Amino acid sequence: MTYPTTAHTDLAAIEANLAGIRARVGTRLVLAAVKANGYGHGAVAVSRHCERTGAADWPGVATTEEGVELREAGITLPILKLSPARGDEVPAALAAGITLPVVDAASVTEIADAAVQLGLSGVNVHLKLDTGMRRVGAEPDQAVALAKAIDATGRLDLQGLFSHLPISDAPAGKAFTEHQIARFTETIRTVEEARGPVPLKHLANSGGVLDHPESWFDLVRPGIMIYGSYPDPETSHSVQLTEALRWTTRVSYLKRVPASGRRLRTHLERPRTPLDRHHPGRIRRRLLPPALQSRTSADQRTRPPDRRTSVHGSDHDRSGPRAQRQGGG
Ligand SMILES: Cc1ncc(COP(=O)(O)O)c(C=O)c1O
Repeated sequence: MTYPTTAHTDLAAIEANLAGIRARVGTRLVLAAVKANGYGHGAVAVSRHCERTGAADWPGVATTEEGVELREAGITLPILKLSPARGDEVPAALAAGITLPVVDAASVTEIADAAVQLGLSGVNVHLKLDTGMRRVGAEPDQAVALAKAIDATGRLDLQGLFSHLPISDAPAGKAFTEHQIARFTETIRTVEEARGPVPLKHLANSGGVLDHPESWFDLVRPGIMIYGSYPDPETSHSVQLTEALRWTTRVSYLKRVPASGRRLRTHLERPRTPLDRHHPGRIRRRLLPPALQSRTSADQRTRPPDRRTSVHGSDHDRSGPRAQRQGGG
């Protein structure tokens, strides 16, 4: 051990959180977002536990490497990569049995070509749509064309349609989220009318699970909440969560000092004045050794020289000729 601080993941807490999610969303499938090493909790351990206990049906990853790591650890659950794969990643992901999103016509071609190269057919893909987040995903009015392009490859199966909700966790985002749900619902209708049913439609992240039942569709994709945290202080507690992360460390040094002893205050601990709140530059300067506490050019731009007087403490002596030299008048 090089450092005596350890993060402990409570897998039973994650299992209990997922059970609470299942109880809330009924028969929908549950994808556990385990990207970024399971939000720091250990993607392999969390996915393995989900597989062994049946707590979740899919893990969701961000990168091909994350998905490959799960396969190498023996995870056999279907894995969805939540963001697109390009170039060499595509055959590597298909070879590892990772389900990829389609985000544009180029990704249909890339995935289909990789399927041909690997001699695969019936390769599941999920069409990712941008219903308002303005990050990754095809525009909804491209959905029918892309779905038909996927069908036309003869190699790929359109297993899913999905989109992401950026502010489903905040009451202030309610109208925006409802607008996204409506756009997604309408896009599903047009795609299914044009080429038949798509088995898995999915939209809900943690905020969706907690506060937007209309976003649940066939599968939900909670992330942060499975680890025991509500995504926002204002998200409802419609699922009771248990913290899954605990830190322990070894105290390196304890010392008793007399209660009456005087202690020197550092410059960081000087009392702040009401002025400091409006002029953060004053505080930044105080963090520097006195010799370096000159005005910055940003200060000169924002504060005219004639307002640099009438200040407190150490700034006071910079209102004289020295300050004027430094500030260029
Ligand atoms: C596509 C997608 N779905 C679901 C999630 C899980 O989100 P959350 O942690 O807010 O539940 C993420 C995380 O960013 C995501 O990118």
